[in-house]
Amino acid sequence: MFRQDLLAGKRLAITGGGSGLGRAMAQRFLELGAEVVICGRREEVLAETAEALGAETGGPITWHVCDIRDPQSVEDFVAWLWQGGAPDGLVNNAAGNILARSQDLSHRAFDAVVNIVLKGTAYMTLACGKRWIAEQRPANVLSIVTSYAWTGSGYVLPSAMAKAGVLAMTQSLAAEWGPHGIRLNAIAPGPFPTPGAWDRLLPMDKLRDEITKRIPLGRVGEHRELADLATYLLADGSGYVTGDVVTIDGGEWLKGAGQFTWVGDLMDEEDWAAIKPKKKG
Ligand code: HXC
Repeated sequence: MFRQDLLAGKRLAITGGGSGLGRAMAQRFLELGAEVVICGRREEVLAETAEALGAETGGPITWHVCDIRDPQSVEDFVAWLWQGGAPDGLVNNAAGNILARSQDLSHRAFDAVVNIVLKGTAYMTLACGKRWIAEQRPANVLSIVTSYAWTGSGYVLPSAMAKAGVLAMTQSLAAEWGPHGIRLNAIAPGPFPTPGAWDRLLPMDKLRDEITKRIPLGRVGEHRELADLATYLLADGSGYVTGDVVTIDGGEWLKGAGQFTWVGDLMDEEDWAAIKPKKKG
């Protein structure tokens, strides 16, 4: 759906780029001509992904270990990143999540998620933003949130609180950093199966079966669909879009939001006929 050189000349950094959706975005950006830098906690995962995607696409991809929960690790990564050339865009993709009853969470469990999603995203965005502003360099930040960032959700409390914070960061900095030529947007994905999220969040078959029933379009998302949306938001053609969030969830959250939408799941042809007014005469 895009010109093959749409992202040519762009250097894009992706946190958590070694696996899952981060890897899918890295692949798409490379296919479209970008230079990609991935970071994450696990050296072997980053090295394997960089080698595989480099071979597959022929595009330039480098990697660096970085634990975004650690401000010093973020500083070291960003200094290394700039040495190779200032990036044009940052994708805040790295995340963590725990499916649990909230009363079962310890403060360490809460911190485990919030330190990655909220604090890590902020550390990375601020470290890059400071440099872009000092260099008067236009740039683009894209953060992956979730559709429950504005509705909240039971059983993923730390993630819901942290993602809501990332959304607030996106909107706040879009207003503050717009005059510096820095855009910030977010994507709110619904279910996109990845081993990292799926194994942890939907560990049983009965949970996986249920999730597609909750989606009006009747299926989960394909990684390529999310990567294409990310591409649009990082491309120059979306240059007037900032501070916004685009949902990509097959209609899932609106199905939960509409007061009567659930009725359709319980009604059959006969039921609809029974409540239809009879024609007079
Ligand atoms: C209760 C739990 C728990 C659970 C962990 N803990 N899992 N408590 N129920 N199911 C507790 C532990 O007992 C411990 O507390 C504390 O959390 C920290 O656990 P660790 O395993 O030491 O943490 P850590 O190694 O830092 O792991 C972080 C993580 C892990 C977030 C828990 O899942 C992770 O690293 N995830 C990264 C990858 C990932 O999750 N990606 C998917 C993101 S999907 P105590 O008190 O015992 O010490 C996403 C969007 C989802 O974000 C949208 C889908 C539709």
